[in-house]
Amino acid sequence: MNNKNNKILYSAKSKGPINIALIKYWGKENENLITPLNNSISLTLDMNNFYTETNIEILLNNDKNNQKDIINLSINDIPSKITPRIIQVINKFKELKQDMQNDFYIFNIKSKNTFPIASGCASSASSMSSLVICLNKALQTHLSNTILSRIARLGSGSACRSIFGGIVEWEKEGNENSCAHQLYDENYWKLNVMLIIVNQKEKEISSSNGMKLSKETSDFLSYRINNIVPKHIKEIKESFIEKNFEKLGKIIMKDSNNFHSVCRDTFPTINYLTEESEFIIKIVDEINKNEKKIICAYTFDAGANGFIIFEENNKEKIENYFDKIIFNKNNENIKEEWIINLINKKNKEGKFINKVLFNLGKGPEIIE
Ligand code: PMV
Repeated sequence: MNNKNNKILYSAKSKGPINIALIKYWGKENENLITPLNNSISLTLDMNNFYTETNIEILLNNDKNNQKDIINLSINDIPSKITPRIIQVINKFKELKQDMQNDFYIFNIKSKNTFPIASGCASSASSMSSLVICLNKALQTHLSNTILSRIARLGSGSACRSIFGGIVEWEKEGNENSCAHQLYDENYWKLNVMLIIVNQKEKEISSSNGMKLSKETSDFLSYRINNIVPKHIKEIKESFIEKNFEKLGKIIMKDSNNFHSVCRDTFPTINYLTEESEFIIKIVDEINKNEKKIICAYTFDAGANGFIIFEENNKEKIENYFDKIIFNKNNENIKEEWIINLINKKNKEGKFINKVLFNLGKGPEIIE
């Protein structure tokens, strides 16, 4: 019997957010369980512009000649390879749903990213967090966010943080129970994030492969894990309690620098940053120098795009600086010499593509 006239047993639609790590996760303690070598802290971003939308339909596979689960996945309407991690996530839900255990199913999953193709922002965190809450809704498993975070972790480490909104921590302890938790909700501190999308170089080494190589070859990594991260976690938590942006900004930049030094110390070396990334760092340094205090901070994940963090009350000022310096906007009659110098320095070919502004967000949502 074929599946053509088979009826849809379960369905749901959801969307999931990206997150940006302030204290970076880099290195797995256990490759299969995807448990981290160090704690990490991130901001979950709103879904006004960037998110992954997931649509799931689940049918019974009643083809007697092909008794197995079948997963059909398309990403942005293009059929996509099913990774062992996706299978692991689906199997977890089957394990938890008693009445599904004796049958085989067809999972039709359509995933759509709203990110511009050139942004290089294909985020496993938004897609996995969206997938997990979508399955939870479709299958009516009513799992807590803690359990959903554990399952999302099996899909992609950083995805376990995208299950929660606001400011989120993923602690290294926990083994198979390893999961993230919310430190503060999205309203606790009005922080904004400006993503500066730059021209990407040829495909970089994936975060999974990069962190594996760092664990094998970088002498700096163990120093980072044992000495730097615990200090940064302690200080960043103090900065949250005090709502002290100077302190927060400094740790964000230091942790990004430290993470990228580990990448450079990896053999063969890894360099996620480009000329454009270095220029973004320079702009942030100059803004802070001229404002005589830290009002914005940069951070870079495993890619060249820059994430600039600041308090909402400085949004206009910072957006304006970046518009003038790299997007050639409002740049008539500039008096400040440091801005003129930066504009002159800017690579005239203009490899900066776009900027996207975010507030902190609430976490994934069910649409249907
Ligand atoms: O979980 P992954 O494989 O997407 O790795 C994420 C690694 C970083 O983005 C560089 C850091 C982080 O904590 O998100």
